[in-house]
Amino acid sequence: MKGGSPGIKQVAVCQASKCRKRGSQALAKLLDQEIAAQGLECRVETKRGGCNSLCDQGPSMVVQPDRVWYAELSPEAIRRVVSEHLSGGEPVRKWVAKDKGRRGRKTARKALEMCSKEREKRSKKALKAAKKAGKSSKLDPAA
Ligand code: FES
Repeated sequence: MKGGSPGIKQVAVCQASKCRKRGSQALAKLLDQEIAAQGLECRVETKRGGCNSLCDQGPSMVVQPDRVWYAELSPEAIRRVVSEHLSGGEPVRKWVAKDKGRRGRKTARKALEMCSKEREKRSKKALKAAKKAGKSSKLDPAA
């Protein structure tokens, strides 16, 4: 999963035995369908992945380069991850793996923090643009 194309998210759904027993094959198909339905094929690559060390919380998948691991996936989880994370850029906290070892928890938390910082940055930028637009409309007699 390393070294993917820049700007392209890569999603690997675990296809190892425990996750397969819990329906990861059907979820991987659903993931492909949802990505196609939302027109994200150019921005998201999917693959059938190996064990994510979340066997007791399967089915699981990982989204790279965001370093977000999802666990206990269901069809609803797949739909929300596609619309909120892969399309909207915001990881879906409800299914972010709670126990991916110390390193995994740290990176998942970091990813969530990065997203909230990014959201804050975007709203500041929007506020600045709105203020700028407000000033220019005051100067523009036609407005
Ligand atoms: S079998 Fe899927 S995470 Fe291990």
